[in-house]
Amino acid sequence: MGKYAHVFQGTAFSSKTFEEVDILKDYLFCINENGLIEKMIAPEEEQYVTLLSEYDGKENFHRLLEGEYILPGFIDLHVHAPQWAQAGTALDLPLYDWLNTYTFPIESKFSDMNFAQTVYEDLVKTLLANGTTTALYFASIHKESSLLLAQICAQLGQRGLVGKVVMDNPDQCPNYYRDESTEMALKETEEFIISVQELHQQTKQGVYPVVTPRFIPSCTDEALKGLGELAAKYNTHIQSHCSESDWQHGYAIERFHKHDAFALNDFGLLQEKAVMAHCNFLADEDAKLFASTGTAVAHCPISNVFFSNGVLPARHLHDLGVEIGLGTDISGGFSPSLFDNVRQAVIAARMLEEGVDTTISADKRGVASSRITTSEAFYFATAGGGEAISLPVGRIEENYAWDVQIINTTVPAAKLPIFNNDLEDIFQKIMYLARPENIQQVWVQGEKVHER
Ligand code: GUN
Ligand code: FE
Repeated sequence: MGKYAHVFQGTAFSSKTFEEVDILKDYLFCINENGLIEKMIAPEEEQYVTLLSEYDGKENFHRLLEGEYILPGFIDLHVHAPQWAQAGTALDLPLYDWLNTYTFPIESKFSDMNFAQTVYEDLVKTLLANGTTTALYFASIHKESSLLLAQICAQLGQRGLVGKVVMDNPDQCPNYYRDESTEMALKETEEFIISVQELHQQTKQGVYPVVTPRFIPSCTDEALKGLGELAAKYNTHIQSHCSESDWQHGYAIERFHKHDAFALNDFGLLQEKAVMAHCNFLADEDAKLFASTGTAVAHCPISNVFFSNGVLPARHLHDLGVEIGLGTDISGGFSPSLFDNVRQAVIAARMLEEGVDTTISADKRGVASSRITTSEAFYFATAGGGEAISLPVGRIEENYAWDVQIINTTVPAAKLPIFNNDLEDIFQKIMYLARPENIQQVWVQGEKVHER
């Protein structure tokens, strides 16, 4: 078998910097027993031929075929797992009404373990088939089925970061979908953390518990404070929603007389492993607080069209030093695909720059230099996501996990229009035109988890 668990030969794309994509042409990628990239060898290096002759023909040697390319697996920083049951529907109301009319009722059904099993298994398989190797999930308020989601990730080989959602505020949460009490919410969160940390030990790829106050309106001060303390005690990830819609942003200002970013920080909820969804209305002071605490933004460009009444100024936040990754926000975003969200991230940034109706008044023209490139949106979906959660994923680099998607550009049902061998063009065509049919194989931590 040789020293390595797997050796791949082929061409890969991976972010070198925010702006620039590295093209690793015809490299050898040597994967060790732990599922990490131990060595990457360029064709001009001396060892290339020796290693190739050692592995060629072996069962653990994988030579990519003509038209196949390796991309890092995507990192989805924001998925509401129970909302998968209503994905593609219910997008006709603003956030507050949408939560109360559609979303709390569907999430309340996840006390039913059979229903949860069916929906969660389908979701995790679907995300893997869409190239998502790591996902940061909101489950529901139910401890048991939230743990089931973590178990399904463990079983199917996805790197899942899972939160039992906390909603204890009787002023904002309906009776049928609310934690029994603040005390119970904190107790169950702690039990959930301990169970998932145990489960983590039994997996190769890792599953992680996430402290998850839904958002400021749904939580009491005591819950927010207690959750900040639990995250510190167990050194967990944290996730919530921040500055998403006019309504939600305004609510926090009324209650705390400050922006929600600062309120969350007061409760110890902004830190290196914290990810806040949306963040469309961050002021520069809020953004600087994010940058100084290491808090990341989960940019959900499809969902923002429906709920935020705004476009995330992604480039501006990046320039202020904020870490940014991409999220589908299922089901506020209807698509399980981060390819779709890469595309929408580029489109939305362009609209921010020049899409505003100039017939109303010239000063509404938009914000200059807002656009982001395809490579930068790709960075958000991969390397940026990895930095957001402080794990060695999202890049094809030594000491990173072998979390990849192998793209076949020649499948008959979804052949890409490639008529030259320019690898920069091919990268862009994959970004804009690839469909799930083109995702031939998906690997997480050196294990094959999906094949078409
Ligand atoms: N804010 C609080 N809960 C939610 C949710 O489920 N989806 C979105 N998009 N925003 C939220
Ligand atoms: Fe959300």
